[in-house]
Amino acid sequence: MIKTIIGAQWGDEGKGKVTDYLAEDSNLVVRSQGGNNAGHTIVVDGKKHKLHLLPSGILRKNMINVIGNGVVVNPDVLLRELDNLGDVRGQLFISDRAHIIMPYHTLLDGGEESSKGNSKIGTTGNGIGPCYSDKASRLGVRMGDLLDDATILERLNKALPRNKALLSHYGVENDLTVDVLFDMCKSWRNKLKDMITDTSLLINNHIVDGANVLLEGAQGVHIDIEYGTYPFVTSSSPTTSGAALGSGIAPNKISEVVGVTKAYLTRVGSGPFPTELEDDIGELIRDKGQEFGTTTGRPRRCGWLDLVMLELSNRICGFTSLAIMKLDILSDLEEVKVCVAYKDSKGSEVKHFPSSLSYLADCSPVYKTFPGWSSSEVDISKGIIPEEMKNFLDFVSGSLELPISIVSLGPGREETIIFQ
Ligand code: GDP
Ligand code: IMO
Ligand code: MG
Repeated sequence: MIKTIIGAQWGDEGKGKVTDYLAEDSNLVVRSQGGNNAGHTIVVDGKKHKLHLLPSGILRKNMINVIGNGVVVNPDVLLRELDNLGDVRGQLFISDRAHIIMPYHTLLDGGEESSKGNSKIGTTGNGIGPCYSDKASRLGVRMGDLLDDATILERLNKALPRNKALLSHYGVENDLTVDVLFDMCKSWRNKLKDMITDTSLLINNHIVDGANVLLEGAQGVHIDIEYGTYPFVTSSSPTTSGAALGSGIAPNKISEVVGVTKAYLTRVGSGPFPTELEDDIGELIRDKGQEFGTTTGRPRRCGWLDLVMLELSNRICGFTSLAIMKLDILSDLEEVKVCVAYKDSKGSEVKHFPSSLSYLADCSPVYKTFPGWSSSEVDISKGIIPEEMKNFLDFVSGSLELPISIVSLGPGREETIIFQ
């Protein structure tokens, strides 16, 4: 059985918690795209773990964790995360096809952003975009390249001149040379070589043996390079298709797709946000929900749940159920709103998320308002939730014609209600 977890919004939906929860019934957990721009927080027995590159299954013993071919890997970040975890050798495999984030990519990310002035994307600054650019330009260095000196040198000799030219274009000083980078690559090889393998083959062999595989999404559909609010997007595809390709699994082998959404909405970085709350309620959600980036610490922008966005996410990802997170944060509000459509300035109703950002800016949200619910009426251990919360969930489920499989009412594993 292969399950995929997809962020249905702009990232930070709580995918880490859902992955950790569902990992209990899995044998392998796989990351398929993105890199250390991801920040997944998992709370186990009250202890917080923040993972950026390692799959969230790494916190469970006897679980095989895979960094798939679609991921971009910063080996220094990976080694630091591994150092913090003790001995997980034999538990982690990295695709030989995964591309490496080189120091020049991280520098370029900063240079490109600085050059944009007011139209910054607000990237995480981790070199994600420049690394995927080199991949598409066929100038990347892959994890498998590390295994052979001649290949490393050949790849570096091709990639460095163009990257140095770009850095100088953006006025970013550096003393990177092929020799310096070659030494770095050899040091990474010494520490990581036993983990580098053909992970598509590894995963598929386990599938043949009957393993349960969990594909842990990173980012969210609305920062997808194709369907996100371009250009305010990341450089990979956080979709079901991206998960299949980025792990080397045939799409028709995926049987469950869990779309993860907060009961409200957040965004880090720039870009449109039709339901953004720039008022006291937005601030209350940010404070109560601790909405500050796991990776960068930036305050997250907060707003009401947007069903127009979720319709697009479901359309291209084929969710089989929804996980609705952080309902506890909306508890004790007088009323809760859900955006059901947009209206443009000519008064036309818009039901489908537009690709044009200027048209989107001309749209305003149409809300359905629900009475709030009281936290005192929640009893997670007995699966009891207030009637008002039930109405809210039924409306979301009915509107998207999707069952809800998980309701989350707190960061811990035990603060979860599962619907079969
Ligand atoms: P991810 O990137 O999708 O894995 O999400 P993040 O880890 O960046 O952000 C989600 C945050 O919400 C984390 O700090 C989680 O511990 C926390 N969280 C997840 N589910 C819940 C929930 O139901 N209630 C509350 N209060 N916190 C939650
Ligand atoms: P998780 O997995 C939220 C956003 C950045 C920026 C844009 C491009 O924790 O949900 P990048 O560094 O990828 O080039 O930045 O994408 N972004 C995320 N926002 N959660 C994430 O990951 C994100 N990964 C990238 O804030 O707006
Ligand atoms: Mg996150």
